[in-house]
Amino acid sequence: MILVAGGTGRLGAAIVPMLVAGGHQVRVLARGASHAFPDKAGDGVEHFRGDLTSDADCRKAVAGCTAVVFAASGFGIKDSDPRTVDRDGAIRLVRAAAEAGVGRMVMMSMRGAAPHGPIEYLRCKAAAEEAVRSSGMAWTIIRIGVLLEQRLENMTRPLQSKGKVLVFGSGAVPVTYTSVQDAAALVVRALRDPTLQNRVVEWGSQTLTGTEVAQAVLSRAGHGSIRRIPAAAERLMSVAARPFSPFLARIGRAGLWEESGAAAFEFGPARGEFPDIPVTGLQQVLEAAGQPGLPA
Ligand SMILES: NC(=O)c1ccc[n+]([C@@H]2O[C@H](COP(=O)([O-])OP(=O)(O)OC[C@H]3O[C@@H](n4cnc5c(N)ncnc54)[C@H](OP(=O)(O)O)[C@@H]3O)[C@@H](O)[C@H]2O)c1
Repeated sequence: MILVAGGTGRLGAAIVPMLVAGGHQVRVLARGASHAFPDKAGDGVEHFRGDLTSDADCRKAVAGCTAVVFAASGFGIKDSDPRTVDRDGAIRLVRAAAEAGVGRMVMMSMRGAAPHGPIEYLRCKAAAEEAVRSSGMAWTIIRIGVLLEQRLENMTRPLQSKGKVLVFGSGAVPVTYTSVQDAAALVVRALRDPTLQNRVVEWGSQTLTGTEVAQAVLSRAGHGSIRRIPAAAERLMSVAARPFSPFLARIGRAGLWEESGAAAFEFGPARGEFPDIPVTGLQQVLEAAGQPGLPA
């Protein structure tokens, strides 16, 4: 049995069917709060409604598992935050797994994770990484870039209603994106490939500026134009929103971090090691989604 914490999320929901297709029994842990939670079990999938803030739920979730994947997050959830989920929830789950004798853990992290990183999310991810490294289990830390599908969702939200694609910041700074498909494929590989044990892998799909992403979206949609949200607005949001919306404040800070250029990285060497994992870039993601912002 393999536990996928956050198995209903953007990435988790892609990992689960890949594991099932590989013949694994899978258990999904989520609260059923930010994402829909299936009422009944699917083939090879058990759903456990639980909370990473609870020691008891973490113990129940890992019981009988040989491996655990941490793909939960509080970053993009309005009523949650990275400290509760990405740091403390991850540490709680790592401890529960190690105590239960789980042998293998894959920790989803982000490129730039560091104890003194410039944004809280990266510091929380560093704490989770440290927990899994020192857990005694065999581990793999997968540091991805910004999830491409999440960025597309955010940029294309007003496309249908207002004909606009949002570009945050200058739109001129390169950002390395990782597609859900590519991240999920590496998770599945890490669970079976001994060469990925006790390693940190930095895994990207494509590096693009915001304007390049927007132009590709507009050309696929066949209509619309760009609306820019300047870095000054992100800076204002990162401070002014703090008292009433920590969520908006952290989105603003993350935007400024990207604007600094720190969200672009070299992923060629890791890709070179696993050439059989196909690269799913922006064009492939747009093709798979149909026309963004328009009815399928
Ligand atoms: N998105 C990115 O750009 C990005 C970049 C770098 C790294 N990552 C990492 O990649 C992984 C997947 O990210 P994602 O964007 O796919 O996440 P997501 O779509 O936001 O999904 C988060 C998942 O975590 C669950 N969750 C949240 N709080 C929970 C709690 N207290 N207890 C149990 N489950 C909880 C959510 O379900 P409920 O809310 O219903 O419980 C959901 O299943 C995460 O570890 C994330 O930190 C993401």
